[in-house]
Amino acid sequence: MKRAIITGVSRGLGKALAETCLDQGWNVLGIGRSTDIQSGGFDFEERDLSEQIEFNFLDAYLDGATEILLINNAGILGEVRRISDQEETDIRKVFEVNFLAAVELSHALLKARRPEQKVSIVNISSGAGRRAIPSWAAYGSSKAALDHFSLILQEEENEKGSNTRIHSLAPGVVDTGMQEQIRKVSPEDFSAVDNFHQLKETNSLRQAEDVAQNLLKRLSDGTLEVVDRLS
Ligand SMILES: NC(=O)c1ccc[n+]([C@@H]2O[C@H](COP(=O)([O-])OP(=O)(O)OC[C@H]3O[C@@H](n4cnc5c(N)ncnc54)[C@H](OP(=O)(O)O)[C@@H]3O)[C@@H](O)[C@H]2O)c1
Repeated sequence: MKRAIITGVSRGLGKALAETCLDQGWNVLGIGRSTDIQSGGFDFEERDLSEQIEFNFLDAYLDGATEILLINNAGILGEVRRISDQEETDIRKVFEVNFLAAVELSHALLKARRPEQKVSIVNISSGAGRRAIPSWAAYGSSKAALDHFSLILQEEENEKGSNTRIHSLAPGVVDTGMQEQIRKVSPEDFSAVDNFHQLKETNSLRQAEDVAQNLLKRLSDGTLEVVDRLS
């Protein structure tokens, strides 16, 4: 039995990932603040990932699974503004959701999994973690941390001779609520905002469903590097 655990399934990429996994025969456990997915094979744990969480429900969920996929998808942009122009930095909250929740959930999964279970962990990263984009200090550095964490975790699993595969994937620019939020920022606060308006106006944004299908295909093809991007 294939079991996927996906964070942030209320909307956007996470919802598309959950629905695509369900279509492809995975059982899915969503973790987040809300969901409207009601399919058979879908379970939900209501959690706020900015808070410290006990993931003790994982043990029972993984029982009987032959293949396990964890997708750390939930993410927030935080305030889009130069650090020196912010009244108060929200970097702590951004790291809690984008980085610490992913680390703690990965840790809980690696402790709960049985050696015979095939495990993949996919962290949803961003190009913003690989280029220095002004006004995205919190977001970009949380994604860079996710990339580096993934590289180290894969080395550790290799040392142990485990079959676990870790990936940190930048999905490209996807047509979700996060993009709407970016487009609302003023050019004074975000010098690159015009690029995002242009991507929308020229229909150049990726659709979440296409990204989800591409991710699952690349995962099953075995063509993903540890730090990679979806083309
Ligand atoms: N869209 C893009 O162009 C793009 C590009 C690169 C990377 N990404 C990454 O892709 C992932 C998905 O983003 P998206 O574009 O689908 O954004 P989105 O539409 O804003 O969705 C974000 C998801 O994260 C959840 N979430 C946020 N804070 C949470 C919290 N405290 N606890 C639990 N869940 C929380 C949201 O749930 P609620 O409904 O409860 O808020 C929602 O389900 C993120 O990691 C993002 O950084 C997106």
